[in-house]
Amino acid sequence: MLQHTLAIIKPDATQRHLVGEILACMEKNGFTIKALKMLQLTPEQAEGFYAEHKGKDFLPPLIEFMVSGPVVVAVLEGENAVENYRELMGATKVADRKLGTIRKMYGLGLRENSVHGSDSEASAKREIAYFFTPNEIMN
Ligand code: RTP
Ligand code: MG
Repeated sequence: MLQHTLAIIKPDATQRHLVGEILACMEKNGFTIKALKMLQLTPEQAEGFYAEHKGKDFLPPLIEFMVSGPVVVAVLEGENAVENYRELMGATKVADRKLGTIRKMYGLGLRENSVHGSDSEASAKREIAYFFTPNEIMN
């Protein structure tokens, strides 16, 4: 099933000049970039994006991290893109990150993990609409 997912290159990666390498990794692994932009998130935008984590202890430092520098947001298209991009991205827990995943190659820790990926088709739809208008997404 051809599907769309939302990817974010996080501030730890943009600050280390890894934007090109990480986008290349996505493309080499079969994803098509259908929309792309760099932006500086506000705390309100970051909180709205991570609304599912409201009330969790790790949210305030996560917000602080997400606004610490520019992010790159992208819509990726591919077969089973949500699940397949989560696979390429690598696990949340450092010990579970497999060799060859983006988080294993570039992540610095649990929070500074270089990339985000939508965790379900419903999240993907919400997150894509959060950052892009329909006319910003290529056909
Ligand atoms: P993301 O949403 O950023 O793609 O990451 P994820 O699905 O792998 O993990 P999620 O559970 O959604 O958590 C969002 C981000 O919060 C940080 N985190 N800290 N226990 C902790 O301190 C903790 N757990 C998660 C990570 O930066 C994670 O990416
Ligand atoms: Mg998540």
